[in-house]
Amino acid sequence: MGPFVARGCRAGAEMITLALSKGRIFDDSLPLLRAAGIEVLEDPETSRKLILATTRPGVRVVLVRATDVPTYVQYGGADLGVAGHDILLEHGGQGLYQPLDLRIARCRLSVAVRADFDYAAAVRQGSRIRVATKYTHCAREHFADKGVHVDLIKLYGSMELAPLTGLADAIVDLVSTGNTLKANHLVEVEHIMPISARLVVNQAALKLKREPLRALIDAFESATAANNP
Ligand code: PRP
Repeated sequence: MGPFVARGCRAGAEMITLALSKGRIFDDSLPLLRAAGIEVLEDPETSRKLILATTRPGVRVVLVRATDVPTYVQYGGADLGVAGHDILLEHGGQGLYQPLDLRIARCRLSVAVRADFDYAAAVRQGSRIRVATKYTHCAREHFADKGVHVDLIKLYGSMELAPLTGLADAIVDLVSTGNTLKANHLVEVEHIMPISARLVVNQAALKLKREPLRALIDAFESATAANNP
């Protein structure tokens, strides 16, 4: 099956739609957009709107859940988007052109356990470890590479609760400041990988709207370079 592009031309041929998720990705994307000469005209924290106009008439922002950004871009609901590397690894990245690591929303994917759980001993003894996570694909690969036997339990949030309630021995989750782990008496025992957000682009849109999309990608690239000298 070839690359997908949005059906119809509801937004006009040259309208560029950028998918962002609320929170860290949205906040960290604003300075990059600003550097590209684009201001978002509404604050998603106070507005209930899901389509936000910008100061550039041909560019609009759609707000979707972080896990839905790759799907929107893959099927042409958005021409491009900003998605965490964690989300992209779980999605698989099919049909997405990934031209740029934006180096924003940086954190790491880690294994954490209760402070009183001897993770090293459990691994050494070859015990089966119960792991709760939203990131089942990354977790499966990580533990398979290490030869650790795990039973994975899929959760959609509040992973930190799993070891505290006896649901799991360990979690695989994103860690940024480490404050959430600390507040829940959990400790990081393994770093799986560093994570940052990437620009993803619909491959068909890149052909059909080449000029405006290229200009936007180049602006993001310059802003990223300026932020990371
Ligand atoms: C992430 C992650 C942790 C927290 C870690 O959750 O799942 O709960 O951030 O951050 P810290 O190390 O700075 O405390 P997020 O707030 O992104 O929401 P989510 O649970 O919906 O993923």
